[in-house]
Amino acid sequence: MCGIVGYIGKEQAAPIILDGLGKLEYRGYDSAGMAILKDGQIQIKKSVGRLKVLEELTHGGSLMEGVVGIGHTRWATHGAPSNENSHPHVNQKETIAVVHNGIIENYIPLKNKLIEKGYSFQSETDTEVLAHLLDYYYKGNPLEAITKVLHRVEGSYALGIMFMDQPDQIFAVRKDSPLIVGQNEDGCFIASDVPAILKYTRKVYFVDNQEIVRLRHDHMHFYTVDEEEITKEATTIDWDTEAAEKAGYEHFMLKEMYEQPKTVIDTLKPRLKGNEIHFDELKMTDEQLKAVRKIHIVACGSAYHAGVTGKYVLEGVARIPVEVDMASEFRYRSPILEEGAMVVVVSQSGETADTLAALREAKKLGFPVLGIVNAVGSSIAREADSVIYTWAGPEIAVATTKAYSAQLIVLYLLALKFGMVKGTLEQNCYEEMIADLKKLPDQIELLLAHKEKIQHFANRYIGAKDIFFIGRGIDYSISLEGSLKLKEISYIHSEAYAAGELKHGTISLIEEGTLVTAVSTQPALYQKTISNMVEVKARGAFVMAITNEGNKEIEKAADYVIYIPDTNPYFTNSLAIIPLQLFGYYVAVGKGCDVDKPRNLAKSVTVE
Ligand code: M6R
Repeated sequence: MCGIVGYIGKEQAAPIILDGLGKLEYRGYDSAGMAILKDGQIQIKKSVGRLKVLEELTHGGSLMEGVVGIGHTRWATHGAPSNENSHPHVNQKETIAVVHNGIIENYIPLKNKLIEKGYSFQSETDTEVLAHLLDYYYKGNPLEAITKVLHRVEGSYALGIMFMDQPDQIFAVRKDSPLIVGQNEDGCFIASDVPAILKYTRKVYFVDNQEIVRLRHDHMHFYTVDEEEITKEATTIDWDTEAAEKAGYEHFMLKEMYEQPKTVIDTLKPRLKGNEIHFDELKMTDEQLKAVRKIHIVACGSAYHAGVTGKYVLEGVARIPVEVDMASEFRYRSPILEEGAMVVVVSQSGETADTLAALREAKKLGFPVLGIVNAVGSSIAREADSVIYTWAGPEIAVATTKAYSAQLIVLYLLALKFGMVKGTLEQNCYEEMIADLKKLPDQIELLLAHKEKIQHFANRYIGAKDIFFIGRGIDYSISLEGSLKLKEISYIHSEAYAAGELKHGTISLIEEGTLVTAVSTQPALYQKTISNMVEVKARGAFVMAITNEGNKEIEKAADYVIYIPDTNPYFTNSLAIIPLQLFGYYVAVGKGCDVDKPRNLAKSVTVE
């Protein structure tokens, strides 16, 4: 989604802003712009397309001198990508500039009122009302004007604001859209995500909902929407800029796939004391866990797919009924949550608007919410009653890989923990499962080492029109994720089906040569899936199978087989997903797609 960077200090602002926006490119955007304040004038430059167009236009920022500025990368919502619709937006006199992430929901009535008062609009955006509304309320006191505007607008926003006659201060404001501010000895920064300013400072403050920050070159003040000053604790970011760089890999996605063994270790190790699972961060006693009668897992995209796997594992291991919902559905379906229910929201970014809204809905209904979150200090992490972090580190590629793998690990651990407190899991079985979990990092490593084999196979499908994924039970949940990985980055149409559902309609889509990927890692279901493979083969499909080592029988029905190392059937997803990620990646690379930043997609979906 959109990115914001702002700076006020001793250094030239434009190069810092461009550099910061570059670090946010992974979020997805279609245009960029910057406003720099100098000698009582606001200079603005905007461009459609990649950030490098803005860099060229401003000679790396050197054509825009000044030590105060705000910049933005826009992911179009209201109005197509164009110079007019790009941010910063200004009032008519061009004395106030605003950059905005989020959506102003009541912008139409506000716009109509402003037009009645004589204001004219240059863009189709919701953001432009903010610039004119600020103008309407501004009588020399910026804080007062901002709070008045905030009382009028509805929706979500992270804002950077600059006033021409206030060259010694800029403002940051936030509601339901992520925003941080940071400081070093030379100046203060605004950013919509940590990597944008990590090169300059590790000392950051997470701006909370309805908070306003006044940034000067040497200090920052925080206020409520009622102009009351508040104090906030700084957070020191302890991960490295290196972690957000490509480190020699061709794409972030490839690098992140290769980080999965480490991610699994980092997520697993702190929770294991000997063979015992300790979730120190879970604010629930074993007695409280025992009293949980139903779990609702709510998430979007791949996090939802991890949740589907979680359902199979939690129900199988701990015998707790689990419902899995897409957050965009859960939030509007008046969910029935009964006594003893617990809600688990899963999110890499911790900022997904639908997941955050679902969390709030669950809390409003009075149910405990556990967040499984990757981004430390994100909105979901802060608003959930307890948080279990997936220690995957910053994930840059839009297509998630390592964060998804870490989510699976947390869900497995949760299932084992519930299994033990509820007494549904025998001690010896539990110990075998823990031993299997510990083997996963090496097994993932082994599968990654065979990447050339998958690359070779993937190259045959660069021209494919449709690719299907089938599986039963847990294998169906893996298929969902394998299919999403392929389609989101390669733009090849793909569907995942529960293998038993094929003959209820889908099988009519199979043509001569169509690739069907059959995942079959559940020994109890081998024969059933083989029957479905035979069915599609009979209609001309080419079948690639992913199965456990030793299941040679599958070769009778498959044209190409990938074997995964032996593990507990509940954990096969962590291994089967590796060839599927590699397959999607190499098809997309072969097609020349922008793997890390696929078209129309954003890393963090902060709008509905
Ligand atoms: O940050 P989140 O985990 O909440 O994001 C959820 C989805 O937007 C995300 O998983 C998306 O589906 C990815 N592009 C999948 O690779």
